[in-house]
Amino acid sequence: MQQPNQISPHVLIFPLPLQGPVNCMLKLAELLCLHQIHVTFLNTEHVQNRLRLHTDTETYFKKYEKCFSFRTVPDGLPEDNPRTGSQIPALLKGLDEVAVPLLREMVTSGELGTESERPLTCIIADGIFTFAVGIAREIGVTLLYFDTISPCGFWTYFCLPKLIEAGELPFKDDDLDVIIKNVPGMEGIIRRRDLPSFCRTKDLNDRIIQLVLKEDEHIPLAQGLIFNTFQELEAPVLAQMLNISPNIYAVGPLHTHAKTRLGEETGVLSERSSSIWKEDRTCISWLDAQPLKSVVYVSIGSLAVMTKDQLLEIWHGLVNSGSRFLWVRRPGSIEGLDDKFEIPLELSQGTKERGCIVDWAPQEEVLSHPSVGGFLTHSGWNSTLESIVEGKPMICWPYFVDQQVNSRYVEEVWKIGLDMKDTCERSIVEKKVREVMDLKKDVFWERARNMAQLAKESVSEGGSSFQDLNRLVEDIKSKYM
Ligand code: UDX
Repeated sequence: MQQPNQISPHVLIFPLPLQGPVNCMLKLAELLCLHQIHVTFLNTEHVQNRLRLHTDTETYFKKYEKCFSFRTVPDGLPEDNPRTGSQIPALLKGLDEVAVPLLREMVTSGELGTESERPLTCIIADGIFTFAVGIAREIGVTLLYFDTISPCGFWTYFCLPKLIEAGELPFKDDDLDVIIKNVPGMEGIIRRRDLPSFCRTKDLNDRIIQLVLKEDEHIPLAQGLIFNTFQELEAPVLAQMLNISPNIYAVGPLHTHAKTRLGEETGVLSERSSSIWKEDRTCISWLDAQPLKSVVYVSIGSLAVMTKDQLLEIWHGLVNSGSRFLWVRRPGSIEGLDDKFEIPLELSQGTKERGCIVDWAPQEEVLSHPSVGGFLTHSGWNSTLESIVEGKPMICWPYFVDQQVNSRYVEEVWKIGLDMKDTCERSIVEKKVREVMDLKKDVFWERARNMAQLAKESVSEGGSSFQDLNRLVEDIKSKYM
């Protein structure tokens, strides 16, 4: 066992077991390893098996053998249970019942316990993991929460008690265009329809609302908060966060941050994302054959689903817009679509001539491709940041949680795209695609290019995220030990 003065920093990272959070926390893990911090990365067996199958992330992390290791716990759900958006409450329940007791044992008396060779000094956990407060206290280590959703979305979550107290929640009628007054820093920006999707319930006992209220109570109990964003994008929101935690670290965009530092410090430019689906790379050769900025990339991420009617409206809109399109149709993402579904006759020619459809794409690479001129997205936070870094304007069709807030910020605050929330008609899809890809292309491209520049500067030496990461590393090594 190490003596106190010999203790070296050892962080346990525990992401929410979903594609976006896992990918983003792996990038943070890699950055910490580059700074000689030992990381134990806790995945669920389900996620780890899929990573092993589709990206072999374990082999990739072998180069950090001395300071990185994976551990797994079951998530409590049957293997064939879908893990889409509507399953999140079940997933959290399963984790609470099955994974948390195992984790507690692992970090108290088990292989990462206080008597072990390398005891933990810090836990970095997803903000929704309220159990982490008790565990960190029990073993006497620092807790940092890393909420991988957008800070603008997170801030609306955090203001939920204020909204309820002020009578803004639940909504008093069905008018979704009423301006929200009680989210400090967002006055005049967000309407009822731009609040996270779960705010539309009339029932404050709703499971998600209760989970978020519990999260709100626990967040200030951590010693610091990490966010995947950069100051220049969300300074007003980040300033508000200082009211709930003295230590705010804005270290994003993490995928670019990792690439930049890896390029500099090891000479390896990492292009990898850790995918839990099999990537179809044929879409890259298809993109290679398309003209510059001519393709709209369409994806609804890893959790969202759409109905067959919505699929057809979007499809007609895309074909009618005359634009080329690369569309990711994740297996299981279209409700009620069976194997017998055939391309409707009126869509077949336009799709054959101008479309490419895949199950899952290497998204970061797709967005950086010169043929891609716009992104029709569900406004998941990772997708939004990936698009921002590549300077690609967006057409937003948010599905749930923070995505409603993100899409509002894309149109109203950052002005780098259009928000199509709460509509899914072919004529509207066609109009928005035409505006972004053609009619207003120049203005969107200029703004998106400027934002991309700021994102890249933030992770370059001396930039705001670069400095925040250094501060995080130093604090993990000294302040929190
Ligand atoms: C979830 C929530 O939906 C989102 O709102 C929240 O901000 C984070 O957690 P998800 O649906 O997974 O996110 O979307 P997103 O955050 O955009 O992450 C999707 C990830 O999958 C991205 O990193 C993207 O690059 C990757 N992806 C997506 C692929 O690699 N290939 C694809 O074909 C589609």
